[in-house]
Parts: sequence; C-alpha cells; structure tokens
Amino acid sequence: MRFLNAVIVVASLCSPVFPQSWVASRFYDAASGITYSSVTMPNGVSYRLALPIDSPNADGIVQVVAPSKYGWCGFAWGGRMTGNPLTVAWPSKAANGEPVTVSNRWATGYSSVPTAYTGASHTYLPISPSTINSTHWTVTSRCQGCTRWGTTNIEAATSVTFAYACSTVAPSNPASNTSSFSVHESPGRWAHDLTIAKNGSFATWVG
Ligand code: HEM
Ligand SMILES: *[C@@H]1O[C@H](CO)[C@@H](O)[C@H](O)[C@H]1NC(C)=O
Ligand SMILES: *[C@@H]1O[C@H](CO)[C@@H](O)[C@H](O)[C@H]1NC(C)=O
Ligand SMILES: *[C@@H]1O[C@H](CO)[C@@H](O)[C@H](O)[C@H]1NC(C)=O
Repeated sequence: MRFLNAVIVVASLCSPVFPQSWVASRFYDAASGITYSSVTMPNGVSYRLALPIDSPNADGIVQVVAPSKYGWCGFAWGGRMTGNPLTVAWPSKAANGEPVTVSNRWATGYSSVPTAYTGASHTYLPISPSTINSTHWTVTSRCQGCTRWGTTNIEAATSVTFAYACSTVAPSNPASNTSSFSVHESPGRWAHDLTIAKNGSFATWVG
C-alpha cells in the first residue's frame, strides 16, 4: 500500500499538466432543446458534445461555455494538440454578425499557430445562437468532419479522450476565423462518455 501511494505521488508529480480526469454527464440546454454530454473543467470552461446515433458523415455538435476572461478556448477531438481536428473559438468583438468566432484548425507542431484544416467544416446552429453575457461567452458549432480523420473514427467508441486549452489573451484579429493567436495556459485532457452524447434527435437539431 505504501508502495502504491509512492507510485501515485510520483505519477502525479510527473504529469502536472493533467492532474485528474473529469466525468461527463447529461446536460439539457433549455435554450436550444439539445441534450449534450457535458464536462466542466477546473478553469470553469464547459465542453458539451452531441452526436447522431449513427452518423453517415462524421457529424457532431460542440458547445463551448467559457468564462469572460478567456480570449480563446480550443477543443481537440483526438485528445492532443497535434494531428487531430481542433475547434477553436473566441469572442469576435465585431459590432455586427456573429458574436463568437469559430475556427477550424489542425496543428502539426507546438511552435506555431495551428493552421486552417480543410478536412472539416464548422457552421453555426440556427437553433442555438451564440451569446455573451456578463460572466460567459457561449458558442454552439456543428462540425462536419471532426469525428473522423485518417484511420480514426471516434464515433465507434463509447468513451474518447478529448483535450482542451484556453488563453486569456484574445486573438489579434478576432472577427476573422483565420486570425493568429498566442499560446494557451495549462491544457487538460479527459475521457468523455460518448454514449450520453448520441441522440436520435440530432437530425432535427442540425436540420
Ligand atoms: C499559438 C497557438 C499554440 C501554441 C504556440 C501552442 C504551444 C504548445 C506548447 C509549447 C505545448 C507544450 C508541448 C509539450 O510540452 O509537450 C502545447 C501543448 C498542448 N497544446 Fe498547444 N499551442 C497552441 C494552440 C493550441 C490549441 C488551439 C489547442 C487546442 C485544444 C492546443 C492544445 C494543446 C494540448 C492539449 C497540449 C498538451 C500536449 C498535447 O496533448 O499535445 N494548443 N501547446
Ligand atoms: C435526446 O434529446 C432529447 C431532447 O433534448 C431529450 O429529451 C432526451 O432525453 C435525449 N435522450 C437521451 C437518451 O439523452
Ligand atoms: C472560415 O469561414 C469560412 C466561411 O464559413 C470557411 O469557408 C473557412 O473554412 C473558415 N476557416 C477556418 C480556418 O475556420
Ligand atoms: C451567462 O451564460 C452562461 C451560459 O448560458 C450561464 O451559465 C451563466 O449563468 C450566464 N450568466 C449570467 C450572469 O446570466
């Protein structure tokens, strides 16, 4: 037992960036009527996912609810920064149009801004417009292409490792989805229950 405790202490010292896991639970968004599988990170950001029961085209809905202090937050569909679709979002600061910008990115390394990803496309959901209030900014995005890439298909799994990262520094040109932005604070990853995320009403929500 003492040995086991020592192993746990050493393991936690070696991975300070990912100190724990978070459990996703069912969340009903009364504003849109969408039921998500939702987690809230220690930094206060919630990531919510809704999927079709059997997707013909790698479809998914991701909702991000971030405390106002965050200039951008990202969601990594494969649980790491590089080599997977990234959904990155930030307040647009635009007088007209979308209050929150969503950007479709892919990173090949850790030393530059993730670039535009052509393998997926993000669209805003008419039934769930973005909101900004005194405490949070919220965006809901449909991604077609984010659940499959290369030989990976996360829809086939019941639980998938996702990752996130946020920065308090806003992108340089926030109204543009191709804007540059600077590095995040400590990122995190968690195992997300996809069985909760799948719902037969998905087609209605995106339709
Ligand atoms: C200007 C943009 C960015 C820069 C310069 C940057 C840089 C870095 C650096 C230097 C690390 C540490 C790598 C290591 O120690 O192994 C890291 C890790 C990480 N970053 Fe970024 N990053 C950026 C954007 C993003 C975005 C948009 C996401 C989306 C979620 C993200 C997610 C992560 C994650 C999850 C890790 C942990 C290591 C991993 O799982 O790959 N990063 N990043
Ligand atoms: C599917 O979504 C509807 C509407 O949000 C919700 O009432 C229902 O409980 C959901 N089903 C499951 C299994 O989560
Ligand atoms: C930006 O938005 C346009 C129009 O919706 C889209 O064609 C393009 O792929 C998006 N780029 C990124 C990086 O999200
Ligand atoms: C702002 O919006 C978020 C997301 O809907 C919500 O959780 C939060 O309670 C709202 N804050 C206020 C002050 O209404």
